[in-house]
Amino acid sequence: MVAVLPLFLLLLSSSLAAGAADDDHEFTVMALSSLWLKPNATCSGHRVTPPHNTGWVPLSRPLGPCSPSSSSSSRAAKARPSLGDLLRQDRLRVADIHRRLSGDFRELKGSKKQPAVVEETQIHHQSALELKLGTEQRDSQGIGPAATDGGSSAGVVQTVVLDTASDVPWVQCVPCAIEPCPTYDPTRSSTYAAVPCNATACRRLGPYGNGCVNGQCQYRIVYPDGSSTSGTYSSDVLAIDDGDAVAAFRFGCSQAEQGSFDPQTSGIMALGRGGASLVSQTAASYGAAFSYCLPPADDIKGFFVLGAPPEAAYRFARTPMLRDRRAPTMYRVLLRAITVAGRPLNVPPEVFAAGSVLDSRTIVTRLPLTAYQALRAAFRGRMAGYRRAEPREELDTCYDLAGVRRVRLPRIALVFDPNVVVELDPSGVLLDGCLAFTYNANDTVQGILGNTQQKTIEVLHDIGGAAVGFRRAAC
Ligand SMILES: *[C@@H]1O[C@H](CO)[C@@H](O)[C@H](O)[C@H]1NC(C)=O
Ligand SMILES: *[C@@H]1O[C@H](CO)[C@@H](O)[C@H](O)[C@H]1NC(C)=O
Repeated sequence: MVAVLPLFLLLLSSSLAAGAADDDHEFTVMALSSLWLKPNATCSGHRVTPPHNTGWVPLSRPLGPCSPSSSSSSRAAKARPSLGDLLRQDRLRVADIHRRLSGDFRELKGSKKQPAVVEETQIHHQSALELKLGTEQRDSQGIGPAATDGGSSAGVVQTVVLDTASDVPWVQCVPCAIEPCPTYDPTRSSTYAAVPCNATACRRLGPYGNGCVNGQCQYRIVYPDGSSTSGTYSSDVLAIDDGDAVAAFRFGCSQAEQGSFDPQTSGIMALGRGGASLVSQTAASYGAAFSYCLPPADDIKGFFVLGAPPEAAYRFARTPMLRDRRAPTMYRVLLRAITVAGRPLNVPPEVFAAGSVLDSRTIVTRLPLTAYQALRAAFRGRMAGYRRAEPREELDTCYDLAGVRRVRLPRIALVFDPNVVVELDPSGVLLDGCLAFTYNANDTVQGILGNTQQKTIEVLHDIGGAAVGFRRAAC
C-alpha cells in the first residue's frame, strides 16, 4: 500500500495537468463587474485599436462615462432601472419583433390597442453614436450653442441610439414639448428642408406617414412600449465621421414625443433594410453595408462603420443573410448549432430552422425552446461549482456570485450556416449573474440574437453581398 501511494499521486497530478490544458478549451475566466458601474467611473476608451482609418465613429452607452454628452452629475442623478425594468422593456421589444415577423403589418397606433406605457424608454444596455446634423448659422449675438468664429459650423451634435430593426431615423428638434430641449434647431440650419408631401420619399413612409401640414410631409412612429415620436419628415446635412457628409439625409424631425425618451439621447438611428433607413439612403455612396462592435461594458468604447470594411484587411466569418418577405426591415441569419465547452448541444439542426433575427436593441437572446433547454442543462452542468440563486423573471439560471471576483465560464459558441463558429465573449454570457439567454414559446417561433451576445464582436451587415459577418475581439 505504501508503495502504491506515490504512483497514485503521480497519476493524479498528471491527469490534473492534462485537465488544465483541456480547461483552456472549455472554460474562460472573466472578471466580474456588476450590472451598473459606479457613478464616478471613467471611460477607459478603446480596448483594441479601432480597425478602420476612415468612416468609423465611436459607439458608447448613452448614460455611461464614455458618452461625451453625459456629464457625471447627470449620470449620478439618473436613477438606474432595475433588472426587472430592463427585462420588461426587452419583452415588449421581442413581442413587437415577433408580431412583425408573423406578418402583422399594422403599425402600433395610439388608442385602445396601445400597450401599457412604461415610465421611460430604456436606453440602458443600448449603444449610441454621435452625429452632426445641419449647418448651424451663427446668430447675430454670436451666442448660439455651436457658434464658432466662422459664419457657420459643421452641425449640431446629436446622440442617437443604434436600431437595426427599424427603418425611419429621427432626432429631437426645437421646438420641443418636454424640457430639456435639444440643440438641433432646424430654423438655424441653412441646409435644412422639410420633405414636401408630393415627394417620393414621403409616399414611401407608408405606415409611418402622418399626413400633410402646409405641404410638409409628417411622420409618426409608435414604439411597442407605448412611446411615440411625431413631427415633420425633413432633410439636412449629416456628418457621421470627420470624412464625407451625407448631403440630404432624411429623418423625422421630432416635435412631439410621448412617453419620455431619455434626454441624454436625441433620437434613433434606424438601420433596417427598408428604404428610409440610413444604410438604404446612403447605399449609392457607401455600398449598402455597415458594421458595429458593441462594447463589453459602459466604460469601454465600441464603434460603428458605415460602408463595408476592406475585406482583405479584416477577415469576417460570413453566413448568408436571409430575407423574410413578411418582415422586410429585419436582418436574419440561420443559427444551426450551439456548443458549450466545445461540445455541441444534442439538438437536431431542424430545431433552429425558423431562423434568427439579429437585433442591436434586444438585450437577452431568445432561442427555440428545445435549444434553450439543452443550453441551460449544459451550462448548469459546467457551472456546478457555483451556488445557484433565485430566478430573475425569465432568467432562470442565476448564480450567487457575491464575493466572486473572477468567474470561470464554459465557452459558448454559436454555429451559423454553413459551419461558421462564433465564440461569445465572456461579457456576452451573463447578465447580472444570470445566463443571458431565454426561450421562445416553441421551436416554430424565430430566435432573436440580442446585444448582450454580440458584445465585442464586429457584426457586419453586408446587404449588397447578402451576408452577415462576424469578427471576434474587435472592441
Ligand atoms: C411637388 O409640388 C411642387 C409645388 O406644387 C412642384 O413644384 C413640384 O414639381 C412637385 N414635385 C413632385 C416630385 O411632384
Ligand atoms: C408556437 O408559439 C406561437 C406563439 O405563442 C403560437 O402562435 C403557435 O401556434 C405555436 N405553434 C405550435 C406548433 O405550438
